Amino acid sequence: MALCARAPAAAFPKLREGSRRRTRCRASEAAVPVAEEGRLERPRWSGETPLSKIVGALISFKPLYNLMKVASRQVIISTAEKANVPWRVMSKEILESDVYQLFDELRNPNLVYPDYYLNPFHAYEEGNLSWLAASEAEAATMSIAKRAIPDASSIEEASQRVRGPWLSAIENHHLKYSGNKCEIKDILDIGCSVGVSSRFLAEKFPSASVVGLDLSPYFLAVAEYRQRKEGRKNQIRWVHANGEATGLPAKSFDLVSLAYVCHECPARAIVGLAKEAFRVLRPRGTIAITDNSPKSKVLQELSPVLFTLLKSTEPFLDEYYLLDLEEALRSAGFANVTAILTDPRHRTVTATVPFDKI
Ligand SMILES: C[S@@+](CC[C@H](N)C(=O)[O-])C[C@H]1O[C@@H](n2cnc3c(N)ncnc32)[C@H](O)[C@@H]1O
Repeated sequence: MALCARAPAAAFPKLREGSRRRTRCRASEAAVPVAEEGRLERPRWSGETPLSKIVGALISFKPLYNLMKVASRQVIISTAEKANVPWRVMSKEILESDVYQLFDELRNPNLVYPDYYLNPFHAYEEGNLSWLAASEAEAATMSIAKRAIPDASSIEEASQRVRGPWLSAIENHHLKYSGNKCEIKDILDIGCSVGVSSRFLAEKFPSASVVGLDLSPYFLAVAEYRQRKEGRKNQIRWVHANGEATGLPAKSFDLVSLAYVCHECPARAIVGLAKEAFRVLRPRGTIAITDNSPKSKVLQELSPVLFTLLKSTEPFLDEYYLLDLEEALRSAGFANVTAILTDPRHRTVTATVPFDKI
């Protein structure tokens, strides 16, 4: 397990001094730059505020919603294309590949989808259950990294500046609370989508076995297509299941990661995901949840056009912002709950399973 790696210096070259504080960390820990917090607990456009209700009413007006869906998709695609992400080429490659065979190999035909998952999502009528969504997911992930770090000079730099501090926050937490007693040998990446987060985890912890789990068999088929194409050494195993009831053995993982999953889920599902993570983690294991930070200054100051478009394609954003995630983890049994703003938009919340877990 890579316990002492430092995040690459080039990962955060352009954060201004005034816009960050450094965490104090032990000599062996990677420094995690902390982005600036806003003054509020959560953005005014979220939760149950009058502004949030007005936006909700606009979105519920179907003709307007249809326009917003198109506009929102356009914002993501144009951010990607301006940053030289070959969106259409990437999607075409997947759609014209033999990915369809992999779908049959990976799909669990007995899986019952939770009802929230069957909503239209991210401007896709069939949500995450479609080939179009699966073929565009990696390009969309790149576009989102670029939006998070607009001053990055390339997509690679933006991805590093989003993923590097997240991985360092996980490593630091595990080192601090479990490092002497619990090596990271088994990792579960819940909501792995097309496998981007699973690959980052596998690279950070090269001696660990990684399982990527998702509700979308389309996304998992793309993850496996990519893995075969790259010929990875430490192969990631993909599991088609609900993260709230994985069917995986109890106490079988040292790290459970949920990257950018919770903002897509209603509060009851987030609570279910935390409970299931607690069950599958070994004593001294670590959970790491990274996602939009309600305290992010950038998100609190988002323009009305952007927050309206964002909310139009994310049906559970209000529930996510209202939930006290740290308290939900404590209620599930976790200790050492720690939250840190790991980039200008996202927080990473980490916590430990107590050593005397029964
Ligand atoms: C934004 S994507 C995650 C991206 C990925 N983790 C990364 O960092 O690149 C959110 C994923 O969560 C998955 N998801 C949502 N609810 C889930 C659940 N209950 N169990 C498993 N996966 C779920 C969705 O299918 C989707 O692929």
